[in-house]
Amino acid sequence: MSILRLSHVEIRVPDLELATAYYTEVVGMYETAREPDRVFLKCWDEHQHHSLILRFAPTYGLDHMGWKVESREDLDEYATRLAEVGVDIVRHDAEEIGPGHGEAIRFTLPSGHLMELVHGMEQVGNLLPNTNPPPKPLGLVGFAPPRLDHIFLTCEDVNLNTRFLVDVLGFHLTEQVLGDDGFQVATWLEVSHASHDIALVTGQDRGLHHFAWWVDDWNEIRNVADVLAYHGVRIETNPTRHGATRGHCIYFFDPAGNRNEAFTGGYWVDPDEPPVTWTEAEMGRAIFYYDGVVNQRFLTVHS
Ligand SMILES: [Fe+2]
Repeated sequence: MSILRLSHVEIRVPDLELATAYYTEVVGMYETAREPDRVFLKCWDEHQHHSLILRFAPTYGLDHMGWKVESREDLDEYATRLAEVGVDIVRHDAEEIGPGHGEAIRFTLPSGHLMELVHGMEQVGNLLPNTNPPPKPLGLVGFAPPRLDHIFLTCEDVNLNTRFLVDVLGFHLTEQVLGDDGFQVATWLEVSHASHDIALVTGQDRGLHHFAWWVDDWNEIRNVADVLAYHGVRIETNPTRHGATRGHCIYFFDPAGNRNEAFTGGYWVDPDEPPVTWTEAEMGRAIFYYDGVVNQRFLTVHS
């Protein structure tokens, strides 16, 4: 039984057409379905029906995050495990949640974030043939990330939520910032051997700090900056490197105010490897290794 990876995120946007234009023309995702108040999108190299859902709402923030599990039986086993620790679960049939969606269970983390485990999302294929494919399609639009990578949330009690992800859902802690009082200020966890699939930082419950796409290398981060600047998109943090995860990154905002990231680099881990610890004094370097400072703007989040 295992969670394979982050499957999709559903976010709120007050202007559905503006957000769709940004996510298709600047980011370069592909629209796969549409409802009156929702648009479904995927990246070019993703086979599944969607990795991002935009929902019309008068504000911004995270509605839910979906995680892909390996088999249908996994849903039952996770449901049992969650019930054992007193977590309420809602089961959804494939048709119930939306187009292309698989069977799912939904529950909330101690932080109030709505989490979903999903199996059997419709496979629509990437943009390459399965026989003798070229490395990438021609004519991609925007900075065209191949896939969704990770999500970063805020919560009041990082210790509690990290323990829940590890003990109940089987995540593996790869890095942490430990406060001088011994409590975790921020944590990074994985299920896919990557440096992180999810991270938590102290802040308000139910907050979305950002979600990130994978890009292939450091040069691609530069290309992201070129595309964003061309389109006049506000770049919050220019291309740089994280201390924690060692990844390269750039941060920017969608038109609604949801923070986005393009990410690459990092490392691969086995689940039995011990976590890296950063002290509170070095937290700035954990987040932005070159600057060594986390500014107040970066710690501002939306719920
Ligand atoms: Fe990130």
